[in-house]
Amino acid sequence: MSLSNKTVVVIGGSSGFGNATARAAAELGATLILTGRDAGKLEGVVREFTEAGFTASGTVMDAADDASVDAFFTGIAGFDHLVSMAGGFMGGGFLSADFATIHRAVEEKLFANLRIARAAAPKIAPGGGSMTFTAGSGGRPQNASGAIIGNDAIRTMVRGLAVELAPKARANAVSPTWTETPLWRGMSAADVTATKKHFAETIPLGRTAEIAEVSGAYLFLMQNGFITGQTIAIDGGVDLVG
Ligand SMILES: NC(=O)c1ccc[n+]([C@@H]2O[C@H](COP(=O)([O-])OP(=O)(O)OC[C@H]3O[C@@H](n4cnc5c(N)ncnc54)[C@H](OP(=O)(O)O)[C@@H]3O)[C@@H](O)[C@H]2O)c1
Repeated sequence: MSLSNKTVVVIGGSSGFGNATARAAAELGATLILTGRDAGKLEGVVREFTEAGFTASGTVMDAADDASVDAFFTGIAGFDHLVSMAGGFMGGGFLSADFATIHRAVEEKLFANLRIARAAAPKIAPGGGSMTFTAGSGGRPQNASGAIIGNDAIRTMVRGLAVELAPKARANAVSPTWTETPLWRGMSAADVTATKKHFAETIPLGRTAEIAEVSGAYLFLMQNGFITGQTIAIDGGVDLVG
């Protein structure tokens, strides 16, 4: 399935995996609708894409807010494919992390994406559209409690959405493990290097992912019209060990 003349919504298109996915989709001819919370960052990315000759627009939207999500989807005519990067990260177990931290992680991952799926579903154009969400691999319940619940919930959500959307459209997820992206902007450079080394030693393939290896999975899921309800791990095999 070609992306030429298709409209692709990227929730979180201003940074990291979303930004790389947006650029790759635009290079294949897609028209982009990008979102993010930070207006300045989003504006900069839309300008950069437009100057590169791509067709792109940006709307500030916070996936944690019902009104913001509803206003965004009410304001667009429709789309062919959507990818969502909504979600964050957290550390700590079910007993060791704060209750509020666990609650926030589940909200940011499951409920933000569920909110997006429900508002987006009526706007999918006929003719083989899709929604692709983002889970995560490599954490363990005892050190990433809320994140694991959220990631498992995304795997379950896309299975349900796949059946509910069929035959009109498809739903899938990508599950990356620790990757050097701007998500870690709050960490010192030394901590990023140490974390990258730790994951490279843990991941069976002996390194962390390149951003393009992860964004390639979203492109694959958009373009293969016979895959639905699946979560593809782009994790170097990390969940097979440990
Ligand atoms: N990088 C990793 O190591 C890793 C590993 C496993 C899973 N993941 C998952 O991959 C996804 C993307 O991560 P990334 O590494 O690409 O992070 P990133 O570079 O920080 O990009 C996240 C993007 O999503 C937007 N965003 C974040 N929260 C949002 C919200 N509530 N509403 C609307 N937009 C929002 C951000 O823009 P604003 O900041 O302007 O809102 C930004 O454009 C996340 O779901 C994360 O949990 C990442």
